[in-house]
Amino acid sequence: MEKLDKIYEGKAKILYTTNDPDLVIQYFKDDATAFNAAKKGSIDQKGVINNKISTKIFEMLQSRGIKTHFVKQLNEREMLVKKVSIVPLEVIIRNRAAGSLCRLLGLPEGTTLACPILEFCYKEDKLGDPMITEYHIRALNYATDQEVEKIKTMVFKINDAMKEFFAALNIELIDFKLEFGRYKDEIILADEISPDTCRLWEIGTGEKLDKDRFRRDLGNIEQAYQEVLRRVSR
Ligand code: TMP
Repeated sequence: MEKLDKIYEGKAKILYTTNDPDLVIQYFKDDATAFNAAKKGSIDQKGVINNKISTKIFEMLQSRGIKTHFVKQLNEREMLVKKVSIVPLEVIIRNRAAGSLCRLLGLPEGTTLACPILEFCYKEDKLGDPMITEYHIRALNYATDQEVEKIKTMVFKINDAMKEFFAALNIELIDFKLEFGRYKDEIILADEISPDTCRLWEIGTGEKLDKDRFRRDLGNIEQAYQEVLRRVSR
């Protein structure tokens, strides 16, 4: 597969075209940002680790019948993915209260939720990805009603699969963010799934194995990411 032009550079990844118009290469960087890029830094080896963790999770989801953009891992920092048009939504699922939900509703971190919470955010960095409802999505044509229904069905299926997958590794899946893309009239899971986009707490100790270590300067960031990789690889 030939790597051609850079077509997109985000905070954590770069996309390149290939000689196949339906496929692009997704390159994982070590750069890390938080709080809508107000905090900037980098995490040693993060790109390599997240490429590998994302590969494992996409493979697990595909084996359970969930369609994703993942085609194959190419090398340490790159995976081959289907070229999608990204739905401008960040879809968040929360199984336990943390992060912005605690700030929004004044909840102690770790508060139990009676059921998972699904949130939609409008993917627009200059607005700080504001939370919106399905009415905003419909009124502003961010996605069709049919696409929203499809995304909701997929998100809960993905949550069930990921909760079970991580629980078997002695990790509780607290929350995570997903992005979806349009590919040949179909909605498929896109972007990445990694400790950058999930909150992962070790069961028993409550130790944070995710980007909150960077956001809050908790130290041992690379070690935490490596630990997640070690567990998903076994
Ligand atoms: P939040 O509590 O900050 O809203 O984050 C919820 C989840 O979404 C958490 O697992 C981190 C992830 N997330 C991203 O992947 N990208 C983002 O830009 C934000 C704000 C959160």
